[in-house]
Amino acid sequence: MSKLKFVRHPHPSPVPAAKRAELLANPGFGRVFSDHMVTIRYSEAEGWHDARIEPRGPIPMDPAAAVLHYAQEVFEGLKAYKTADGGATLFRPRENAKRFQQSAERLAMPSLPEELFVEACDLLVKTDRAWIPDGDGASLYIRPFMFANEIFLGVKPSSNYLFIVIASSVGSYFKSGADAVSVWVSQEYTRAAPGGTGAAKCGGNYAASLLAQSEATRHGCDQVVFLDAAERKWVEELGGMNVFFVFNDGSLSTPPLGGTILPGVTRSSLLTLAKDKGIKVREERYSYDEWKADAHSGKLREAFACGTAAVVTAIGTVRAPEGEFKIGNGGAGTRTEELKAALVDIQRSRAADPHKWVHKVF
Ligand SMILES: Cc1ncc(COP(=O)(O)O)c(C=O)c1O
Repeated sequence: MSKLKFVRHPHPSPVPAAKRAELLANPGFGRVFSDHMVTIRYSEAEGWHDARIEPRGPIPMDPAAAVLHYAQEVFEGLKAYKTADGGATLFRPRENAKRFQQSAERLAMPSLPEELFVEACDLLVKTDRAWIPDGDGASLYIRPFMFANEIFLGVKPSSNYLFIVIASSVGSYFKSGADAVSVWVSQEYTRAAPGGTGAAKCGGNYAASLLAQSEATRHGCDQVVFLDAAERKWVEELGGMNVFFVFNDGSLSTPPLGGTILPGVTRSSLLTLAKDKGIKVREERYSYDEWKADAHSGKLREAFACGTAAVVTAIGTVRAPEGEFKIGNGGAGTRTEELKAALVDIQRSRAADPHKWVHKVF
């Protein structure tokens, strides 16, 4: 437990149960929000202070707040799951807390203690437990974020910050519900350059990816794939997911972390689970040209995207300006399904948890 005490301001008029049930029946992704939010303030003079849980609502902001001008903002994403005994769990929240600290450091922001991050998430899940939807693909998506709110137009790290946690009841990320998604290989735009902010989960990275994502959508694809900025050759990651490749010898590879890729919690969990299963795994660079050639020759059997939001989703079609190719039969392969099941069974407390990844909230 952290030293900070959370002051509680319960919602005076939470969403009525019948209305909530209606919203939870088909929540989609990121549109349905729970009743409360956690807020903690930071100032250079006081450090982290004024911790509260209060009704979710608009946050008054001065038009000169630094984040609105220089995008000093970082965030996280993790999920709370309902358990069979009526409890709730989070999956590896300390990993998100650590990444939040690393993102903050890169953006010249203060470090939020790991235990305070986890306590804030726990408190929101406990308070808004009624918003965790039932169902296999459903969960309560927790979105911690922090931004600069000093009122000053000079370009420098802000002296004040606001940390907030909100929660959104979610179903599956991809609307199509298909067993495999299509991806567009962006040739014009890159996501992150060496020395940049690619490994940080900061809003600016996503702002920079939106035009490429729109291009993907225009070409009928679900997600954009980014190649490296230096050579425009190596596959890095998707707009909001890491990527894995499965080969005909049963082995698995994923692009190595090197500062330009987000170090995904799902990515690291899958690497561990694959090793547990005796699957050969490599973190190595893989070029778009190899991807195409291996898909044609059959050396590449499967590819999948992974992340908290998308969990594990097969990639069936790869499209680029010069044409497209299919991976395997264009659907989900057996290795993808096997790894997805292994991960989801732990996340949903249906299987043993040998690595102690499941964090019981209550
Ligand atoms: C760019 C990017 N890559 C990868 C991931 C996957 O990370 P994680 O598995 O921690 O959700 C995400 C999602 O958070 C992301 O936004």
